[in-house]
Amino acid sequence: MSRDEEIASILDEVLSRITPSDEEGMAMERVAKRLLERIDGFYDEYGVRGMLVGSAARKTWISGEHDIDLFILFPESTGRERLEDVGLLIAGSVLSDAERIEERYAEHPYLHGVIEGYGVDVVPCFDIRDASRIKSAVDRTPHHNNFVREEIAGLEGEVRLTKQFLKRAGIYGSELKIHGFSGYLSELLIIHFKSFMNLIRDAGNWRPGKVIDIKGHGTRRHESPLVVVDPTDPGRNVAAALSLDNMCRFIDSARDFLDDPRIECFFKQERSPPGVREIREILHRRGSTLIGIRFLSPDIVDDLLYPQLEKMERSINRLFEMHDFRVINTGSIVSERNVYIICELFDRELPAVKKHIGPPVWERTDAERFKSKYQGKETLSHIYIKNGRYVVEIKRRHRRPTSLLQEELPRCGLGKDLRDTIREERFQIQSQEELLTTEDRTVRRFIHELLTHNDP
Ligand code: UTP
Ligand code: MN
Ligand code: MN
Repeated sequence: MSRDEEIASILDEVLSRITPSDEEGMAMERVAKRLLERIDGFYDEYGVRGMLVGSAARKTWISGEHDIDLFILFPESTGRERLEDVGLLIAGSVLSDAERIEERYAEHPYLHGVIEGYGVDVVPCFDIRDASRIKSAVDRTPHHNNFVREEIAGLEGEVRLTKQFLKRAGIYGSELKIHGFSGYLSELLIIHFKSFMNLIRDAGNWRPGKVIDIKGHGTRRHESPLVVVDPTDPGRNVAAALSLDNMCRFIDSARDFLDDPRIECFFKQERSPPGVREIREILHRRGSTLIGIRFLSPDIVDDLLYPQLEKMERSINRLFEMHDFRVINTGSIVSERNVYIICELFDRELPAVKKHIGPPVWERTDAERFKSKYQGKETLSHIYIKNGRYVVEIKRRHRRPTSLLQEELPRCGLGKDLRDTIREERFQIQSQEELLTTEDRTVRRFIHELLTHNDP
């Protein structure tokens, strides 16, 4: 088999697994149609109309992933407050027979519910003719929908391949938990490159600063690593949520697939969770040490939670570094409602002695303050001079990471929803032993990944 034939047969195999059957498509349409009619039933009263958007409307969803995105379009003249109130009222009625209903937030509130196994989003927005004059971010969606529907015919399979490839790499989704590629971005890339393989070949040569402007109408510079100018709004970058690392992961996965095309580039091999013994051995070989913090997650949406976890991780890293603990890896994981932040460190214990560097000798006022603070006090060395500065060796406050975190974490910079939990000390320090012997498989899997960076 030639390389091209080999690739074609892999892509065929992938497509056969991710393409929805006609029955699946019809079942989805039936539910969507019924829900749309419910929205349109409010036309006389509120002038609203329903619109099916997202992958269900464009036939670009992946088989088995049942997500229906419905928008309620309000006349442009509607007030924002009224849109929110009436929007929720209509959404509630559309989802009246849903199994679970949650209120979620984009720029304004919307509802999510489950009907006949379909996850349904019902999102109110303003119906604004000119996409560059929208009033809230979700108002772009109907424009995206119209653009993609016109351009995507015949390319649906290529979009599905792209989404599946991105999912496998862990970089599909523009939410703040992922910082990856949205469904709309995947569709635009295919509209631009015409096929998955063209995209993959091109991506192998991408570098930060890459700009794709399908309509050639971009109006401004963006700082993001990848810029894909929105065909419906020249000022907007559709790839704004994509992080540098995730762009690089895509470049790397694309090259890897070209070098060695195989089905595993699209599907994860199910691997049994690593056992305690295995992780213990890995840690022993690395000679490093683990420590964690555990607390109950506040009841907030992922887009609020994850940025705060990232911030907390950065704070903890800074704290460790300020206190001479060298950090190798850190990460956070949410399992059920437990949040864990786990760090791999060089040392379990630091020496009692700590070098304290003082002011330059010629800064007389500072010098005198330093000397009077340490002279004759219980230090571990006399004051001496090195590189023009005073130095004294003293006892360090925290020899162990546990005591450091217990005492200093509540004073760290934290996001507003985590602050109370930590300030009120509703967190537990997890020793290496506690982490290793956890019954929670998700956490064990996560530790394995944190230490090996291997996701099979
Ligand atoms: P999705 O995230 O469901 O993406 O948003 P998708 O394109 O349908 O892809 P998959 O196949 O489900 O993964 C659907 C549309 O709804 C808008 C998005 O902009 C997107 O165009 N949307 C959804 C919002 O604007 N806000 C929301 O809170 C939810
Ligand atoms: Mn969707
Ligand atoms: Mn959705």
